[in-house]
Amino acid sequence: MRELALHILDIAENSISAGADKIRISVSERVNDDILEIVIEDNGKGMDPETLSGITDPFITSRTTRKVGLGIPFLKAAAEACDGTFDIQSSVGYGTTVQATFKHSHIDRMPLGDISGTMQTLIIGTPEVNWVFEYHTDAGSFVFDDKPIKDTLDGVPLSEPAVMRFIREMLDEGIQSLHQQVADTITSGH
Ligand SMILES: Nc1ncnc2c1ncn2[C@@H]1O[C@H](COP(=O)(O)OP(=O)(O)O)[C@@H](O)[C@H]1O
Ligand SMILES: [Mg+2]
Repeated sequence: MRELALHILDIAENSISAGADKIRISVSERVNDDILEIVIEDNGKGMDPETLSGITDPFITSRTTRKVGLGIPFLKAAAEACDGTFDIQSSVGYGTTVQATFKHSHIDRMPLGDISGTMQTLIIGTPEVNWVFEYHTDAGSFVFDDKPIKDTLDGVPLSEPAVMRFIREMLDEGIQSLHQQVADTITSGH
Protein backbone atom coordinates (compact mmCIF):
# COMPACT_ATOMS: atom_id res chain seq x y z
CA MET A 1 0.00 0.00 0.00
CA ARG A 2 1.18 3.48 -0.77
CA GLU A 3 -0.52 5.43 1.98
CA LEU A 4 -0.87 4.97 5.71
CA ALA A 5 -4.47 6.16 5.33
CA LEU A 6 -5.23 2.96 3.36
CA HIS A 7 -3.75 0.79 6.11
CA ILE A 8 -5.90 2.66 8.61
CA LEU A 9 -8.98 2.04 6.44
CA ASP A 10 -8.17 -1.66 6.36
CA ILE A 11 -7.67 -2.00 10.12
CA ALA A 12 -10.79 0.05 10.85
CA GLU A 13 -12.77 -2.30 8.61
CA ASN A 14 -11.76 -5.14 10.94
CA SER A 15 -13.22 -3.12 13.82
CA ILE A 16 -16.48 -2.63 11.91
CA SER A 17 -16.63 -6.37 11.13
CA ALA A 18 -16.10 -7.05 14.85
CA GLY A 19 -19.33 -5.18 15.56
CA ALA A 20 -17.77 -2.17 17.25
CA ASP A 21 -20.00 0.84 17.78
CA LYS A 22 -17.18 3.09 18.93
CA ILE A 23 -13.90 3.29 17.02
CA ARG A 24 -11.07 5.67 17.86
CA ILE A 25 -8.32 6.38 15.36
CA SER A 26 -5.27 8.28 16.52
CA VAL A 27 -2.37 9.48 14.38
CA SER A 28 0.62 11.07 16.11
CA GLU A 29 3.41 12.71 14.16
CA ARG A 30 6.14 13.40 16.70
CA VAL A 31 8.91 14.79 14.58
CA ASN A 32 10.98 15.77 17.62
CA ASP A 33 11.05 12.10 18.67
CA ASP A 34 11.16 10.92 15.04
CA ILE A 35 8.07 8.77 15.49
CA LEU A 36 4.80 8.39 13.64
CA GLU A 37 2.29 6.37 15.63
CA ILE A 38 -1.08 4.98 14.58
CA VAL A 39 -3.59 3.59 17.07
CA ILE A 40 -6.95 2.03 16.17
CA GLU A 41 -9.09 1.15 19.18
CA ASP A 42 -12.49 -0.50 19.07
CA ASN A 43 -15.11 -1.88 21.45
CA GLY A 44 -15.97 -4.80 19.18
CA LYS A 45 -16.19 -8.47 20.09
CA GLY A 46 -12.45 -8.91 20.53
CA MET A 47 -10.37 -12.02 19.96
CA ASP A 48 -9.51 -15.00 22.11
CA PRO A 49 -5.80 -15.53 22.93
CA GLU A 50 -5.49 -18.28 20.32
CA THR A 51 -6.74 -16.09 17.45
CA LEU A 52 -4.69 -13.19 18.74
CA SER A 53 -1.45 -15.16 18.85
CA GLY A 54 -1.82 -16.12 15.20
CA ILE A 55 -3.08 -12.75 14.05
CA THR A 56 0.10 -11.52 12.44
CA ASP A 57 0.29 -14.70 10.39
CA PRO A 58 -1.11 -13.94 6.91
CA PHE A 59 -2.93 -17.28 6.85
CA ILE A 60 -5.23 -16.49 9.76
CA THR A 61 -8.60 -15.06 8.76
CA SER A 62 -12.20 -15.47 9.78
CA ARG A 63 -13.39 -14.44 6.34
CA THR A 64 -14.66 -17.11 3.99
CA THR A 65 -14.36 -15.35 0.64
CA ARG A 66 -10.57 -15.36 0.69
CA LYS A 67 -8.45 -17.83 2.58
CA VAL A 68 -5.84 -15.42 3.89
CA GLY A 69 -6.08 -12.33 6.04
CA LEU A 70 -3.69 -9.58 5.06
CA GLY A 71 -4.59 -6.34 6.77
CA ILE A 72 -2.73 -6.91 10.03
CA PRO A 73 0.38 -8.67 8.63
CA PHE A 74 0.70 -5.87 6.03
CA LEU A 75 0.65 -3.11 8.61
CA LYS A 76 3.07 -5.01 10.86
CA ALA A 77 5.48 -5.55 7.97
CA ALA A 78 5.26 -1.89 6.93
CA ALA A 79 6.00 -0.67 10.46
CA GLU A 80 8.88 -3.06 11.00
CA ALA A 81 10.41 -2.16 7.63
CA CYS A 82 10.60 1.42 8.96
CA ASP A 83 12.38 0.59 12.24
CA GLY A 84 8.97 0.71 13.93
CA THR A 85 6.94 -1.53 16.21
CA PHE A 86 3.62 -3.34 16.05
CA ASP A 87 1.35 -4.33 18.90
CA ILE A 88 -2.17 -5.70 19.14
CA GLN A 89 -4.14 -6.12 22.36
CA SER A 90 -7.52 -7.75 22.46
CA SER A 91 -10.00 -8.99 24.98
CA VAL A 92 -13.14 -11.00 24.22
CA GLY A 93 -16.23 -8.92 24.86
CA TYR A 94 -14.28 -5.68 25.34
CA GLY A 95 -12.47 -4.85 22.13
CA THR A 96 -9.20 -4.56 20.32
CA THR A 97 -6.41 -2.01 20.10
CA VAL A 98 -3.89 -2.02 17.26
CA GLN A 99 -0.79 0.14 17.55
CA ALA A 100 1.90 0.64 14.91
CA THR A 101 4.86 2.97 15.04
CA PHE A 102 7.21 4.06 12.28
CA LYS A 103 10.50 5.92 12.33
CA HIS A 104 9.14 9.21 10.99
CA SER A 105 12.19 10.03 8.87
CA HIS A 106 12.62 6.50 7.48
CA ILE A 107 13.09 6.56 3.72
CA ASP A 108 10.48 3.81 3.25
CA ARG A 109 7.84 5.35 5.50
CA MET A 110 4.69 5.86 3.49
CA PRO A 111 3.07 9.29 3.54
CA LEU A 112 -0.03 9.69 5.62
CA GLY A 113 -2.06 10.21 2.45
CA ASP A 114 -5.68 11.24 2.29
CA ILE A 115 -6.58 10.67 5.92
CA SER A 116 -9.55 13.02 5.85
CA GLY A 117 -10.93 11.15 2.82
CA THR A 118 -10.49 7.88 4.70
CA MET A 119 -12.27 9.26 7.76
CA GLN A 120 -15.07 10.65 5.62
CA THR A 121 -15.53 7.23 3.95
CA LEU A 122 -15.68 5.49 7.33
CA ILE A 123 -18.00 8.04 8.95
CA ILE A 124 -20.49 8.13 6.09
CA GLY A 125 -20.28 4.40 5.31
CA THR A 126 -21.03 3.32 8.88
CA PRO A 127 -23.27 5.91 10.52
CA GLU A 128 -24.08 3.48 13.37
CA VAL A 129 -20.48 3.74 14.61
CA ASN A 130 -19.30 6.62 16.80
CA TRP A 131 -16.05 7.71 15.18
CA VAL A 132 -13.35 9.59 17.01
CA PHE A 133 -10.33 10.81 15.10
CA GLU A 134 -7.31 12.34 16.81
CA TYR A 135 -4.31 13.92 15.18
CA HIS A 136 -1.42 14.81 17.48
CA THR A 137 1.70 16.70 16.49
CA ASP A 138 4.43 18.62 18.30
CA ALA A 139 2.50 21.76 17.35
CA GLY A 140 -0.79 20.66 18.89
CA SER A 141 -3.73 18.30 18.61
CA PHE A 142 -6.95 18.05 16.63
CA VAL A 143 -9.76 15.84 17.92
CA PHE A 144 -12.86 15.08 15.87
CA ASP A 145 -15.80 13.24 17.42
CA ASP A 146 -18.77 12.65 15.12
CA LYS A 147 -21.26 12.16 17.94
CA PRO A 148 -22.09 15.82 18.60
CA ILE A 149 -22.57 16.32 14.85
CA LYS A 150 -24.95 13.36 14.60
CA ASP A 151 -26.86 14.56 17.66
CA THR A 152 -27.25 18.01 16.09
CA LEU A 153 -28.36 16.51 12.76
CA ASP A 154 -31.24 14.85 14.56
CA GLY A 155 -31.90 12.23 11.89
CA VAL A 156 -30.72 14.14 8.79
CA PRO A 157 -28.57 11.52 6.96
CA LEU A 158 -24.79 11.95 6.96
CA SER A 159 -24.88 11.25 3.21
CA GLU A 160 -26.71 14.55 2.64
CA PRO A 161 -24.27 16.49 0.39
CA ALA A 162 -24.15 19.57 2.62
CA VAL A 163 -23.42 17.39 5.65
CA MET A 164 -20.72 15.47 3.79
CA ARG A 165 -19.09 18.74 2.75
CA PHE A 166 -19.26 20.08 6.30
CA ILE A 167 -17.58 16.96 7.74
CA ARG A 168 -14.93 16.99 5.05
CA GLU A 169 -14.16 20.65 5.69
CA MET A 170 -13.89 20.15 9.45
CA LEU A 171 -11.45 17.28 8.96
CA ASP A 172 -9.43 19.06 6.28
CA GLU A 173 -9.10 22.25 8.30
CA GLY A 174 -8.17 20.44 11.49
CA ILE A 175 -5.60 18.20 9.84
CA GLN A 176 -4.04 20.42 7.18
CA SER A 177 -2.80 23.28 9.33
CA LEU A 178 -1.13 20.87 11.79
CA HIS A 179 0.25 18.76 8.96
CA GLN A 180 1.74 21.85 7.35
CA GLN A 181 3.48 22.69 10.62
CA VAL A 182 4.93 19.17 10.71
CA ALA A 183 6.26 19.65 7.16
CA ASP A 184 7.73 23.05 8.10
CA THR A 185 9.48 21.54 11.14
CA ILE A 186 11.08 18.90 8.92
CA THR A 187 12.30 21.36 6.26
CA SER A 188 13.68 23.69 8.92
CA GLY A 189 15.85 20.76 10.01
CA HIS A 190 14.54 19.98 13.52
N1 LIG B 1 -10.51 -5.45 15.59
C1 LIG B 1 -10.74 -6.76 15.51
N2 LIG B 1 -11.66 -7.35 16.34
C2 LIG B 1 -11.90 -8.67 16.27
N3 LIG B 1 -11.27 -9.52 15.43
C3 LIG B 1 -10.35 -9.01 14.59
C4 LIG B 1 -10.02 -7.62 14.59
N4 LIG B 1 -9.05 -7.40 13.67
C5 LIG B 1 -8.80 -8.59 13.12
N5 LIG B 1 -9.57 -9.58 13.65
C6 LIG B 1 -9.55 -11.01 13.29
O1 LIG B 1 -8.31 -11.27 12.64
C7 LIG B 1 -8.51 -11.75 11.31
C8 LIG B 1 -7.41 -11.26 10.40
O2 LIG B 1 -7.54 -9.88 10.12
P1 LIG B 1 -6.83 -9.26 8.85
O3 LIG B 1 -5.37 -9.55 8.94
O4 LIG B 1 -7.20 -7.82 8.72
O5 LIG B 1 -7.40 -10.08 7.64
P2 LIG B 1 -8.90 -10.14 7.08
O6 LIG B 1 -9.63 -8.92 7.59
O7 LIG B 1 -8.71 -10.14 5.59
O8 LIG B 1 -9.49 -11.43 7.60
C9 LIG B 1 -9.91 -11.28 10.96
O9 LIG B 1 -10.50 -12.10 9.99
C10 LIG B 1 -10.64 -11.35 12.30
O10 LIG B 1 -11.04 -12.67 12.58
MG1 LIG C 1 -8.86 -6.99 7.63
